[in-house]
Amino acid sequence: MKLIHLTDTHLTAPGETLYGTSPAQRLRACVASINAEHSDAELCVITGDLAHKGDPKAYTELAEILNGLNMPVQLLIGNHDDRDSVSQQFPQLQRDRYGFVQSTLQSRIGTFIYMDTVRADSHAGAYCEQRQQWLGQQLEQARGDVFLFMHHAPFDSGIPVMDELGIQTEDAQALKMMIQGHGRVRHLFFGHYHRPMHGSWAGCSFSTLRGMNHQIVLDLHNNDHYRFNHEPPTYAIALLSGDSVVVHNHDFMDNSVVFDPSQDPAWADCARPN
Ligand SMILES: [Fe+2]
Repeated sequence: MKLIHLTDTHLTAPGETLYGTSPAQRLRACVASINAEHSDAELCVITGDLAHKGDPKAYTELAEILNGLNMPVQLLIGNHDDRDSVSQQFPQLQRDRYGFVQSTLQSRIGTFIYMDTVRADSHAGAYCEQRQQWLGQQLEQARGDVFLFMHHAPFDSGIPVMDELGIQTEDAQALKMMIQGHGRVRHLFFGHYHRPMHGSWAGCSFSTLRGMNHQIVLDLHNNDHYRFNHEPPTYAIALLSGDSVVVHNHDFMDNSVVFDPSQDPAWADCARPN
């Protein structure tokens, strides 16, 4: 199964730029690239921070842009989003009995669980007891392997300024116990960090990637101020099968020249078939 993962679109009011670039223009370029190169993907998941300030007009533009994507799209919310404004624009988004934007999809490769890690009035994340209870039920009912999607990560990234904004410790600990206890969670997709990161936690692999508009500087030392940059935006193509998860990051705005190495004798020797 081919899945597209993108994150942190940070849309502003139509026509407004953010830190000198246009999130909407970049998302349009991203959609064009996905349609041209990966229209065979079965699903696109966007892991939150859909809008920069939760502006209803930003969500309207988001809906218009995503309407051009040749596949179903699943939205999650992040700390920059407004739950009610998102729900108003996208009434098809399911909310659990407590109002959290959470749902489950039974895909042909396993169970996809879309989680809401937003904490009221904070950029940090949370996964409170109500949400844990909901997740427990979903895991209990899940058929086959499980793939989790969320905005914040429940572990430290090693980037100090971002680790202050992860899921609060006791909630993260509870999540870890649930995931380890279940034993069939295969992979965790998340956003929030505006950086590519891959690894494993609680017995499952994880991946995240750059945002659509601006990135967070790779700085594993500084712990007192945020620094952003404009490394190129990325979307990920995840190939999920019964025994592997392969994630490719695509810098879709990179304009490097493509060349054929066959004129290089050293390459030609290596490339000769047996
Ligand atoms: Fe973000």
